[in-house]
Amino acid sequence: MSRCASWSEGGDLTRQAMAGRLTGGLFTADRYHHQPEIDSTNRLAMALAQAGAAAGSVVVADAQSRGRGRMGRCWESPAGGNLYVSMVLRPEMPVAHAPRLTLLAGVALHEAVSAYGIRGARLKWPNDLLVDGRKMAGILTEMAAEGERIRHVVVGIGVNVNGCADGFSPEVAARAVTMADILHSPCDRAGVLAALLAAMEEWYVRYVRDGFAPVRAAWKERGLLTGCRACIDQAGATREVWLEDLDVEGFLLARTAGGELVRVVAGDVVMMG
Ligand code: BTN
Repeated sequence: MSRCASWSEGGDLTRQAMAGRLTGGLFTADRYHHQPEIDSTNRLAMALAQAGAAAGSVVVADAQSRGRGRMGRCWESPAGGNLYVSMVLRPEMPVAHAPRLTLLAGVALHEAVSAYGIRGARLKWPNDLLVDGRKMAGILTEMAAEGERIRHVVVGIGVNVNGCADGFSPEVAARAVTMADILHSPCDRAGVLAALLAAMEEWYVRYVRDGFAPVRAAWKERGLLTGCRACIDQAGATREVWLEDLDVEGFLLARTAGGELVRVVAGDVVMMG
């Protein structure tokens, strides 16, 4: 990631500024919440959902002090041009299908950054968007359930749009890439947010109407799968595998060196080579 004072900018994400760009029927301006700084947009979105906020409620912040990442990690969230957004959904579906929403969000994210000129982005199962092996964005889906049914879901997405390496720890800066790095110029953060919300709505409506098959097909077109070597870390055990496919449920299928086909339902995937 570059050290770039001039890219520490981006669009105005306030409701007033975004209202004209929220043109769909789900993520509307009246359900849009903006905070200059917050602990975690996912935390607030979950609290709003718990208190009855409608599906389509959105929480956006310019910075997060305790951004949440997958597997209990922290998502470093400096001010200065990145996107931190969480969306409330109330899908009528079983708890077991909730991980599909992460894959759906990945497809929407890929579409949004592609619309802003990012070429060659690939999805890494289950929740990362990479460009040349570096992380441009991540997704964290959280959920509340009543028995086997979902009560609400929050899909949180962090996108490195214009941020600078100076805002990150050296470890994160070494693995991250921004849209501005790839485009060699600042990127319209508000436009990326609008494109992301529009793509999310489109894919969500399609998923509710047509089921998971179109999402799976779209993810496979954009994902790191056949021919990719990876290390899979599941409950502390690490295995080198060749990635093969996404199964009909959205879980990862991988082949071990011994020829065994494994179905990965959780865990970390680290790309090799
Ligand atoms: C990951 O790659 O581990 C997932 C990162 C998700 C980060 C986003 S930023 C907006 C939303 N709010 C959070 O606290 N986390 C998600």
